[in-house]
Amino acid sequence: MEHLRIDRQRTAARIGRDIETLSGPAHTRDAVAIRRYAYTPEYAATDAYFARELEAIGFTVEHDPVGTLVARNVPKGMPAFGIGSHCDSNRNGGKWDGTLGVVMALELCRLNGEHGLGLPLQLISFLEEEGSGFGQMLLGSRIMAQRATEEQLRESMFELDTGRPFWETAVAAGYEPARWRESQRVLDGLIGWIEPHIEQARVLQDTGNRVGVVNAIAGYVHADVHVHGRDDHAGATPMDFRLDPTTVVAECVLELERLARAAGNATVGTVGEIEVHPSLINAIARDVRFSLDIRGPRDEAYLGVFRDISAFAHERAAARGMTVDVVERQRNPATPMDAAIVAALEAAAAATGEPVLTMHSGAAHDTMCVADSVPTAMVFVPCKDGISHSPAEDAQPEDAAVAVEAILNAIRALVA
Ligand code: GLV
Ligand code: MN
Ligand code: MN
Repeated sequence: MEHLRIDRQRTAARIGRDIETLSGPAHTRDAVAIRRYAYTPEYAATDAYFARELEAIGFTVEHDPVGTLVARNVPKGMPAFGIGSHCDSNRNGGKWDGTLGVVMALELCRLNGEHGLGLPLQLISFLEEEGSGFGQMLLGSRIMAQRATEEQLRESMFELDTGRPFWETAVAAGYEPARWRESQRVLDGLIGWIEPHIEQARVLQDTGNRVGVVNAIAGYVHADVHVHGRDDHAGATPMDFRLDPTTVVAECVLELERLARAAGNATVGTVGEIEVHPSLINAIARDVRFSLDIRGPRDEAYLGVFRDISAFAHERAAARGMTVDVVERQRNPATPMDAAIVAALEAAAAATGEPVLTMHSGAAHDTMCVADSVPTAMVFVPCKDGISHSPAEDAQPEDAAVAVEAILNAIRALVA
């Protein structure tokens, strides 16, 4: 099949315009960062923008029972190729993480019509990928893949701002979480899935490549460690009479760094949240919670680090007369991408005439959950200096246009 060359300038201009529109004040609750998460007015406005644009080009738009947007140009359940990403953002996010993938998928839908290609397409914009609303990453896609339980959805997920349960918040927003199991029907008929996304690292930029074809996604475990000490006076309590939980946190942060390095295999470990109670300068803390984010492309390696840091926390707390609870939030295994889709993307990306790299993703993506039942792959767009989960995140619509051309051609080849 002959490679279809698109008008990249026009596509880049439309992508740039969409991204700028979705970075405006109606789409974020922060003056500097993009802060947008499930069931907020900013999220609803962003979802409505995609719905309007898709309906204008003849797509039928629906939502699954918890609010993931699904748009099709063929009837429900008919064979279609899936494309999309998420349009919520990290709390301190930029314009590109997630949103670019949905914008690129929208652009693919436009091009499909303009070039009269007749490709059967289904766009998905997943709810709550970042965990910014409820502290649970990949929530919409985990619900779709049935990787969550009703008990978790009802009882262990709370809005970070208000403490309101996920279930209640979804109902108040007009959704029907009680029907969450039906979400898996969204994937019925999908013959493949490609998620476009910014790279979130600097490999493409530093190797001079313009398109990244993803062949695997690193797995991860997320957990919270609660250290229980005793709140005493910071001045009056001699050093030998304290049960100070912050000392255990300090030991654990350094041990996690050591363990992750020792595990090799691109294993990484991060303590991204530390919450000290009661958090007063003149009081020894009573309790401290810190988060664990441990990842890597080899499940045995990063899960080994999780096991060892958990044991270390218990041991160090006990040695200091304190106790620890380790509560796992979730885990998702490392996920290989589908060889046939990767090969089609590599061929189509090479035919753009631009330099292409096949690589793995260190960040997590909804595609990990789609991969349970649909052949999947991802395409990365370079991002400036690899900066992501930050308002300084930047990327070029011109690079995104090259990736759109590659994805469009890969889908043409795959559905032929
Ligand atoms: C997703 O945003 C991640 O943290 O990998
Ligand atoms: Mn993302
Ligand atoms: Mn992200």
